[in-house]
Amino acid sequence: MGTKLKVKDLIHPYFVVEGQRKKESVKNFPGVYRFSLDRLLRDIKITRGLGIDKVLLFGIPSKKDAAGTSAYAGENIVSRAVRTLKNEFKNIAVFTDVCLCGYTTHGHCGIIKPQDRSHTLTGIGKTQVKIDNKKTLNALSEMALRHAEAGADWVAPSAMASGQILAIRRALDRNGLKKTKILGYSAKFASNFYGPFRQAADSAPAFGDRSGYQLDHSDAKAALKEIACDIREGADMVMVKPALSYLDIIREASWKFKFPLAAYNVSGEYAFVKYGAKRGLWDEKKMVFEILTSIRRAGAGLIITYHAKDAAHWLTK
Ligand code: PBG
Repeated sequence: MGTKLKVKDLIHPYFVVEGQRKKESVKNFPGVYRFSLDRLLRDIKITRGLGIDKVLLFGIPSKKDAAGTSAYAGENIVSRAVRTLKNEFKNIAVFTDVCLCGYTTHGHCGIIKPQDRSHTLTGIGKTQVKIDNKKTLNALSEMALRHAEAGADWVAPSAMASGQILAIRRALDRNGLKKTKILGYSAKFASNFYGPFRQAADSAPAFGDRSGYQLDHSDAKAALKEIACDIREGADMVMVKPALSYLDIIREASWKFKFPLAAYNVSGEYAFVKYGAKRGLWDEKKMVFEILTSIRRAGAGLIITYHAKDAAHWLTK
């Protein structure tokens, strides 16, 4: 018997904005919206009704600054969303993205060293951005704490700051949040497939790129090393991202580590399918099943995908 995709394998990503009665579409990201909390609840009711019981939340703050403080200083959009969801729904696993890129004015995933900003001002521009790791780990730990205090089941650090799993694990344990689990975005590549997401989260870097802290797509060894490292640091599950160009990494990681493994079927992979289907290049449903099944077949136990609702609908009808 071949690999069979199930609704329980799917995690539905959501973007949450401040305000009310908002369901904003995103350019070049068909079928994906930024929801205010009231509309998010409505949509998740539908999602739950289809049998999907896992969601991943991304926050879009109304204010940004260089340190991304609206991600972790006191009340924030994601914590509010988590609290509301955990009150409203039984049996839902809430995952939260822990990263600063949507919250910083420069759009990088951590707090950056000041000299890099002066480089861009003098026109060098493409200088590799250097993350201030210590400050970033503090900020990410605080962010994870806010989400966990609100009731998040899983925090998912995606900043690729070194030592982020260990720092967050320690912070959680010290604050009586031992039960909160960590999903590491362990093998996260500096990829071209994140385009639509960056429009949705308004998180494209203002200068430079993410190659200083995300993985080089040619380097399988480094990816496996990152995964091993996250497992050692105390991750409860690890992830490969994107999925499709990295099925080999998924396969190898699943064989090598025999550890809970997720894959992120990212925004660019999703947009390919949507636009191709619209132009009559393929049947959307068949394409979605081929893709999601291939990711499961490679060895991912869970798949984060914007196709979640469609797939669940097709699987259950
Ligand atoms: C960073 C983050 C990104 C995605 C998830 N978390 C983008 C990036 O690194 O620029 C991309 C997901 C997607 O493309 O669907 N916090």
